[in-house]
Amino acid sequence: MSKDATIDRPFSVLVVGSGSREHALTWGLATSPSVSELWAAPGNPGIATLARTLDLPVTDIVAIADLAVALQIGLVVVGPEAPLAFGLANLLRERGIPVFGPTREAAELEWSKSFAKAFMRRHGIPTADFGLFADYDAAMAFARGTPLPLVVKADGLAGGKGVVVCATLAEAEGAIRSILLDDAFGAAGSRVVIEEFLPGEELSVIALVDGERIALLPAARDYKRLGDGDSGPNTGGMGSYAPVPDLDPALLDLVRATVLEPAAAGLRAEGRSYRGALYAGLMLTTSGPRVLEFNCRFGDPETQAILPLLDVDLARLLYDTAEGKLDPADIAIRPGAAVCVVLAAAGYPDTPRAGDVIQGIDAAVDSGALVFHAGTARRDGDLVTKGGRVLSVVGAGPDLEAAARRAYDAAGRIAFAGRQMRRDIARLPVRPLA
Ligand code: AMP
Ligand code: GLY
Repeated sequence: MSKDATIDRPFSVLVVGSGSREHALTWGLATSPSVSELWAAPGNPGIATLARTLDLPVTDIVAIADLAVALQIGLVVVGPEAPLAFGLANLLRERGIPVFGPTREAAELEWSKSFAKAFMRRHGIPTADFGLFADYDAAMAFARGTPLPLVVKADGLAGGKGVVVCATLAEAEGAIRSILLDDAFGAAGSRVVIEEFLPGEELSVIALVDGERIALLPAARDYKRLGDGDSGPNTGGMGSYAPVPDLDPALLDLVRATVLEPAAAGLRAEGRSYRGALYAGLMLTTSGPRVLEFNCRFGDPETQAILPLLDVDLARLLYDTAEGKLDPADIAIRPGAAVCVVLAAAGYPDTPRAGDVIQGIDAAVDSGALVFHAGTARRDGDLVTKGGRVLSVVGAGPDLEAAARRAYDAAGRIAFAGRQMRRDIARLPVRPLA
């Protein structure tokens, strides 16, 4: 039975973004009985098979809001952080359009690490000890007094590249110099956070937050390094899986009680009520879970592995979250597991090559996997690589091993020149960056 009259009728949904995470969201929405029409801005060639696409950059928030009004969109689902940091959700709410994603003020938890650290301190949320500096000499003095390894972070949004784990003081000096003095991160680099290194295993926990209530999605892991055995450079994520087997339910209760509930309540108390997906990147330390970072959105590539596990009307769930009517009981989780393997372009992450012809996606889909596009483009009838992370291949199965087999079997059917893929997703424990 529906909970209010406004959602009795199917409504049109606009997805903002162009990555695999947004393709996965569009895939989930495409089968939602609540959806009348699906739109995406800007989308990608995979999303275009499910939704009508609008050629707009995600950062053109005024144009997106104008179009949402013109198209009488009933729900906007925002994938990436940049439009949220720019205030897309604020604009949409002002115009009366339901939006899944926090306001600029609530999203500050992601776009300012200094805000996030001070917020956690204010609300007793466990995180690494830290110092915040705009001045190079003060930062270096603090670094000298911090045990090694230590972690140096650019304060603002840095596209996942603003974090350096430093084994030596010389490395720390290089990182601090490049952030504060060499302007390597633009506005994101006017301040630096220096924090203690936390040893442990990492865990990603995403909660839906409707301003008041929260609901945890299955916990996930992502693999950030490019190479097998956690070797090579840091990336945007080379694979993921969910749920995390053998995770003590008491631990998830602890994450809920010490991290996600206080975060949602703290934001509300500070007049920054949060509606959307709140992502906690955690280190499971011997003294309990501690927050490495908050993101104001679904994780990528975690979402590609989490959504296939949800047995829900996704549009209705996201609408209810956006409108402050989340009922955690509405979230049914399927048994089994899902594994996401990312196929990246030649040269990723430093100098990804574009223009390589991609073959075999149909065969991969026929084998029973899901294939979500990220960096792909159409060129003269061919599908070609366009960006760093090209595709996410997702297999589901009764357990992690079966899911990984399905993902790898499908991934093996997809070919393009210079394809990079880790072979150990869900087969090797994730190790922290050190
Ligand atoms: P972040 O963008 O803050 O999640 O950092 C990226 C990655 O750096 C994390 O996924 C961790 O692997 C690592 N990292 C960040 N902060 C710490 C820390 N305090 N201790 C250990 N590793 C960290
Ligand atoms: N998987 C980490 C992120 O989405 O930032």
